[in-house]
Amino acid sequence: MLDTLLPPAFYPASAPLPFSRADFGPDFHWGAASAAYQIEGAWQLQGKGPSIWDDFTRRPGRIRNGEHGRVACDFYHRFEADLDLARGLGLTDYRFSAAWARVLPEGRGAVNRRGLDFYDRLVDACLERDLQPWLTVYHWDLPSALQARGGWANRSVVGWLADYAQVLARRLGDRVQHWLVLNEPMVFVGAGHLLGVHAPGRRHLGAFLAAAHHAALAQAEGGRALRAVLPEETQIGTTFSCSYVTPHRPGNRRDQAATQRADALLNRFFVESALGLGYPVGELPALRWLLERYVEPGDEQRLRFDFDFWGVQNYTREVVRFSPWLPLQWASLVPARKRGVPFTDMGWEVFPESVYQMLKQFSAYPNAPKLVVTESGSAFPDKWVNGRVHDAARRAYLQAAIGQVLRARQEGVDVRGFLSWTLTDNFEWAEGYGPRFGLVHVDYETQQRTVKDSGLWYRDFLGGQVLEQ
Ligand code: NOJ
Repeated sequence: MLDTLLPPAFYPASAPLPFSRADFGPDFHWGAASAAYQIEGAWQLQGKGPSIWDDFTRRPGRIRNGEHGRVACDFYHRFEADLDLARGLGLTDYRFSAAWARVLPEGRGAVNRRGLDFYDRLVDACLERDLQPWLTVYHWDLPSALQARGGWANRSVVGWLADYAQVLARRLGDRVQHWLVLNEPMVFVGAGHLLGVHAPGRRHLGAFLAAAHHAALAQAEGGRALRAVLPEETQIGTTFSCSYVTPHRPGNRRDQAATQRADALLNRFFVESALGLGYPVGELPALRWLLERYVEPGDEQRLRFDFDFWGVQNYTREVVRFSPWLPLQWASLVPARKRGVPFTDMGWEVFPESVYQMLKQFSAYPNAPKLVVTESGSAFPDKWVNGRVHDAARRAYLQAAIGQVLRARQEGVDVRGFLSWTLTDNFEWAEGYGPRFGLVHVDYETQQRTVKDSGLWYRDFLGGQVLEQ
């Protein structure tokens, strides 16, 4: 059925794929990505402090079915077996994040030795399996102790993040060659401070603007802090959420202008600040408040950092129309289900071409560094038949997304890797354990792992051999 949905991005299951791994060259990074809170569990073991996600998931009504990450995939105890699976699929790279409050229970000051030891073992376990570790410094789990001081709305967070990054770098920098400072700042800032659907659950324009500026500063200062202690050849990057945006009514001027504003907020804000281009105030006049209230002398320079690579994270496109909704500055996103197009279990339009469009858009900036797709994936229902997990839609999406990355590469975009979101099904934030993005199915009752058809396809594509089931 999928064959008929969205040509030409999808490939018919009945014919061989028109490309192979070799088309990407021998040094292309093939991996999967994850994040501490979504997989680790062990939320208060061995000295770990609480994080805003530990707190937020305790608030009634915030997470689907009241779920939480206290056990999650129990990766804290099962990481070796999970990395065996990654290796078995033939992956070359594995991306994970460190839980700030595991390393620094108070967010700053005393280091929790056992917490840091865990990441040390994890890095070694990756290397033992020939998996290159990619370490995200911050993937959304701010220590509660820092939230008590205002969290991302407090400018001091810039220094806290930089110090924490250096703690990780001093211990792991001899072995980790790829670092990512922040995961999707526009999401944790926007969903956490404006929409209130992610931790810390605020809905406040002032907090949002402050947090946005502080995250942009932290992105650059975090990069500099890492640069100061890591070996020269180490690759320092950061990640951006992004969605190709198109107007709801293509010929309508107000929809077109709304699309520009959505693009400025969703795709340009953190990229352009890192490039030293400032914030897109022309499209988003509300940012003037940010400039007046939160920017200090010297910040313009501090926002810049020459990253070695940018992590592109893409799942869908957004269709935009004019609306009087202020937070997005007179633009609103038209949900896929109202447009009659196919959508995933997240409600996101199935539109793999978006990753191609965003690679083109980002690579068009003068001085853009090399790009890596540090996340791409889809949540669809899994179908169990005789002990096998059939997930034709996820496999088709994965193939299509990889095909779109190749298309960009063949048109000259310097894209060096593709990290699939995600290795194992895991805790999907406000959506709890409902949507499943994994190449590997997790039974949360038994913690049993089963490689899905999509994972088996990825294995075959990559030429992995070890896994048999
Ligand atoms: C991006 C986030 O980085 C990740 O944590 C999340 O699970 C995926 N998107 C899917 O929503």
